[in-house]
Amino acid sequence: MTVEQLNDHGQLRHLISLADLSRTEIEKILDRANHYLTPIGQPPPRDTILQGHTVANLFFEASTRTRASFELAAKRLSADVLNLDVNMSSRAKGESLLDTIYTLQAMQVDIFVVRDAGTGVPMRIADHVFPHVSVLNAGESDTSHPTQGLLDLMTIQKHKGDVGNLCVAIVGDIRHSRVARSATEALTKFGVGELRLVGPQELLPKEPIEGTQSYAELDRGIEGADVVMALRIQKERFAQLGDIPDPQEYFRRFGLAEERMQIAKPDAIVMHPGPMNRGVEIDGALADGPRSVIQEQVTNGLAVRMAVLSLVYEHVLTTRGEQC
Ligand code: CP
Repeated sequence: MTVEQLNDHGQLRHLISLADLSRTEIEKILDRANHYLTPIGQPPPRDTILQGHTVANLFFEASTRTRASFELAAKRLSADVLNLDVNMSSRAKGESLLDTIYTLQAMQVDIFVVRDAGTGVPMRIADHVFPHVSVLNAGESDTSHPTQGLLDLMTIQKHKGDVGNLCVAIVGDIRHSRVARSATEALTKFGVGELRLVGPQELLPKEPIEGTQSYAELDRGIEGADVVMALRIQKERFAQLGDIPDPQEYFRRFGLAEERMQIAKPDAIVMHPGPMNRGVEIDGALADGPRSVIQEQVTNGLAVRMAVLSLVYEHVLTTRGEQC
């Protein structure tokens, strides 16, 4: 990594990856996220701290939850929010990514939220912005999705407490999943008891990931698990379309359903980062049933994004002050 995520004062400047954040720094983000969490049905939390600051959402890949929650998070913190319509932007006329960033920076954007299919794009942008400007990774290729890792950890802690006593199984297309990578970074940093990566051999990591065990068979992989997280098959990241598993065969072998969950702990929870393909990696009844915490993940995601925006705001403020 060429750009530090923390500034000289130890404040969060960029959020590119959880790999280089300490447990203490992650706890600070989650403490702040809990501050921004209010029960569904109550008015959403609001704050004025980003008043006079501008957040630009640049999503060069499709998104519902991450994009909508970053937008709502920024608005609930009173920021000016720009959602660039990438397909109607001058990138379609050949403008480079960095020229797009320089153009928006000249309009006094303080925080860029970036999703891109290319590895290294958030870091490249972070390497070229003004000192007071922050970059937040909203999903990078198959490499990293740090706010998803944070919201997944937060959701697990809320239901199960200390992850040191837990067996967590992540099931599905691990090989192409930035969600699995960021969840692994977060959970191993917090000393997860056991972390299993479960899926067909061809969708498991090519190289072993430290702190995890791989299982190519569903029942063995989820047996006795406290937490089971299903992942979507990332069709868009397959080099050859012919390599994509047949959905019915995949569901038969690796699809999560209540019957198959009987082998997990009786109180095991079920997670999914979304978007779901019901009937492929997860049965609809399980996704909507009492074990499911999928909608809570979404709620926690908004709180996490408010937390991250509010923390990098402290960097923006400090650094602007130093520049005056
Ligand atoms: N989990 C997730 O990143 O969902 P979106 O692609 O809808 O943002």
